[in-house]
Amino acid sequence: MTRAREDTGADLHADDAAALEADLLAGFFDDPPTVPPRWFYDEKGSRLFDRITRLAEYYPTRAEAEILRAHAAAIVGDSTTLVELGAGTSEKTRVLLDVLAGRDGGGVTGNGVAGGGPCTYVPVDISTEMLAESSRALAHDYPGLRIEPVVGDFVALDGPLPGEPGQRLVLFLGGTIGNFTEDQRAEFFAMLRRIASPGDRIAAGFDLVKSPERLVAAYDDAEGVTAEFNLNMLDVIAATVPCSGLHRDNFRHEAVWNEQCSRIEMWLRAVRDVRIDFPSLDLARTLAAGDGIRTEIARKFRIDDLVDEVSGHGFAGPGVWTDPAGDFGMVVAVVE
Ligand code: AVJ
Repeated sequence: MTRAREDTGADLHADDAAALEADLLAGFFDDPPTVPPRWFYDEKGSRLFDRITRLAEYYPTRAEAEILRAHAAAIVGDSTTLVELGAGTSEKTRVLLDVLAGRDGGGVTGNGVAGGGPCTYVPVDISTEMLAESSRALAHDYPGLRIEPVVGDFVALDGPLPGEPGQRLVLFLGGTIGNFTEDQRAEFFAMLRRIASPGDRIAAGFDLVKSPERLVAAYDDAEGVTAEFNLNMLDVIAATVPCSGLHRDNFRHEAVWNEQCSRIEMWLRAVRDVRIDFPSLDLARTLAAGDGIRTEIARKFRIDDLVDEVSGHGFAGPGVWTDPAGDFGMVVAVVE
């Protein structure tokens, strides 16, 4: 597993350019062209996402926070290490860290100090800056907790995870599991089994099927914040690799419900014919007016389907909590 290290800005940029070029080669010249959602998240994109989580239409963040609050002790269980994939600011996780650090005052016995040593929180994120900042704040607010940040892409981690085998909890919040295709979910579960040990547990948030109207509104809000978030990806691409044509004036945001695939899809739809050139790849393609670039899929699950899938991938006894409204779910299961 890659440890947090001091990166120079220049290195980071070189890494980003190579990673984006690989992603473009893998998807931009397909039909339809796709760019993975990780390229939403430069600093501005992260701030926009933060605003999304507070929108009236965007229920998942609040629903998940409700589940975490209601079931924090059961979710943390006896774990002594909490590994969070895509930790971001770790804001929602604090209710679990309270339990882990034994600070909830709710009769948790010695949870903050298990086996003679402090419990450990391992936030994993691709953003070095975000990790450094949140780790500093967490170290201050949780003096009894060891904070071991890891810079990395949560779909490409090498094991083993920090912490005692069998005593870890791997957290994957936000419903990000819905951004994977079925194949990518299979790969993700396989990776988890590789880097974790039998007895370790996983907890993942996932969004549930509901009316298409509510689903679309959650990804196409009245204020246009999600539109801005989607269009920002064009700026991120243009700032990361040499290119022409990917100008936001050439595209509009679109969110559609794909019933067949049970998912919301976010598209950047060309409003005129656009020629897109990537000189460093020596590749170009033309999109006709109305053609789209798919920037994100957000699968919405039925509880039984997800439980079957998790069991089928080598996890025992999956259990699910939902928020009282039944909008969002949290699955907890044990690595076999
Ligand atoms: C953070 C990936 C779970 O899919 O709902 C929000 C991202 N995209 N609005 C989601 C997102 C548009 C979000 N995830």
